[in-house]
Amino acid sequence: MNRLCLLIFASILSFSSCSLENEDYYKFDPHTASRPNDAVATHLEWEATVDFEQHQIVATAHWLISHKQGVKEIIFDTNGLKIQQVWLDDGDSTDWILGQEQAFIGRALVVKVTKNTQIVHIRYTTGKEAKGLQWLEPAQTHDKVAPFMFTQGQAVLSRSWLPCQDSPGIRFSFAAKVQVPEGLFAVMSAENPRQQEDNGIYQFKNDKAIPAYLFSLAVGNLAFKSYDGRSGVYAEPGMLQKAWWEFAELPAMMRAAEQQFGPYPWNRYDVLVLPPSFPFGGMENPMIMFATPTIIAGDRSLTNLVAHELSHSWSGNLITNASWNDFWINEGFTTYIERRIIELIHGPEYAEMLHALGNQDLEAAVIEYDHQPELTKLKLALEGKNPDDALSIIPYQKGFALLKMIEKEVGRGRMDSFVKANYAARAFTSMTTEDFLVFLRSELLNDEQFERLQINNWVYEAGLPSNYERQSSSRFTLVNEAVALWEQGQTPFSLPTAGWSTHEWIYFFRRIDEKSNKQNLIDLDVAFEFSQSGNTELLTAWFVLSIKKNYQITYPHIEKFLQTVGRRKLLVPVYRELMEHEHSKSMGRNWYTKYRNNYHQVSRNTLDELMG
Ligand code: BES
Ligand code: ZN
Repeated sequence: MNRLCLLIFASILSFSSCSLENEDYYKFDPHTASRPNDAVATHLEWEATVDFEQHQIVATAHWLISHKQGVKEIIFDTNGLKIQQVWLDDGDSTDWILGQEQAFIGRALVVKVTKNTQIVHIRYTTGKEAKGLQWLEPAQTHDKVAPFMFTQGQAVLSRSWLPCQDSPGIRFSFAAKVQVPEGLFAVMSAENPRQQEDNGIYQFKNDKAIPAYLFSLAVGNLAFKSYDGRSGVYAEPGMLQKAWWEFAELPAMMRAAEQQFGPYPWNRYDVLVLPPSFPFGGMENPMIMFATPTIIAGDRSLTNLVAHELSHSWSGNLITNASWNDFWINEGFTTYIERRIIELIHGPEYAEMLHALGNQDLEAAVIEYDHQPELTKLKLALEGKNPDDALSIIPYQKGFALLKMIEKEVGRGRMDSFVKANYAARAFTSMTTEDFLVFLRSELLNDEQFERLQINNWVYEAGLPSNYERQSSSRFTLVNEAVALWEQGQTPFSLPTAGWSTHEWIYFFRRIDEKSNKQNLIDLDVAFEFSQSGNTELLTAWFVLSIKKNYQITYPHIEKFLQTVGRRKLLVPVYRELMEHEHSKSMGRNWYTKYRNNYHQVSRNTLDELMG
């Protein structure tokens, strides 16, 4: 049966068996082929072998399904998978077909089921360029003794290594048995071992249902060190101690989050430190966040990222955006909770700095998206678009600004009760923007407030509403004073910079951007040794400024940075600045050609476009 016949077949089925409500459901998520209201996969038993020689995973997925009466098929998402065999229950053969390839969506796997089918078994192998997997040679790791492999599911990449119903609105529990080469350690978004298994066989379990984008696996030379009874760090042995020290605020962060938003929803929460090619700062995989090593600055100054991923344990993992169009439901709330945790741990003045820098980022992004204003709406319309290309900082910072404004209107006490009530009412389900607005109107804001605060404008219109407000920061006022002294000719050595955090320095760089020139960058570098800094956020801001002013002493440091770091958020501003100037353009091109292969496809995708 070809795809067209199947589609007609499927739509006849859905007409005959669906209420309008179901039809609405299908529209939630334009990035899945699955039709969960007809047939849904609720539990996975996964048996897998991780093959470092062929760079592939050979696996069988045993899916427990439930389907509506009269429904004759179940649909999974796949991308690049080679499907070897599909059968039902105790071995009954069945018909199945792969739909046509669609860019970034992949191919629908349609499996015929009978009215009694309970389990669908799928034996498969991942493709050569599986988008959700990155395979690293020993040389690309910290200790350089063993290869490494990690997965990245968000937004639509899990289907490249698991046939699944890959929508954030669909959840499943799972158990897994994974064979890896002897001597390597495997961890998943599940209950994890604390010690390496001699035979390379690992068993995992996560009873609490998660969406497919959070299903994750990492395999490498890892060791574990604990903080307390429920949290610790996994990292390569050579960096375990340093990572453990850097993230030691984790137990306090967990307590801070629980104090404000209710009990932590899983048993354990660990951090996994990945090799530097990891394309994100962090990824909120349940029970074990994946983190870039580029936040290990030696002074705990970038650990708001840990607070951020931890916050996703509530906003995102416990209540999940129903589709990528509602991405702000995940990230806006998470940014809000992250800053509440930071405020409890480091005080309000520290949280104010994050807010104020976020305002600057937000305003810059709104300008940058001038030609695509629809991407500055909170509610997105990503049909036909790769969600990964469309996900910017807008959902984080505009979402945060909206929640902060509501908090200001109703007060912290009512805001916290509202957020808590939301988690209690909807734990382990998904939420659309519209669900949120209904809840907001029924629990927190009256009609007059809803209108006056322009909530619909915030959510459905592009740009920033007239009642958007910037956060002031007392610590940045002190930076402004230092900048004024510097402008009056005081030497960098004599500026009152003692005790500045990374955030103050970043703000400082942004402030002196227009007024600095090559000579005073040299003076600043001599005084503060920025080029030698181990802090990648600070380095990124410094490199951008250096490229702008053609301060060539930093160029070897920039090259080293581009060679080792794979985090997209840090690479993009540096490459963008390189491409902006005649004096640096060809250097940027050369470096990209040289180091492109070191980067994850997520970073490559974005950079390919940027570099033309
Ligand atoms: N869930 C995101 C990462 C992500 C977003 C992956 C979209 C794929 C698609 C994660 O929680 C995140 O926001 N990471 C940020 C952390 C920062 C905001 C503290 C990052 O990686 O920079
Ligand atoms: Zn996030």
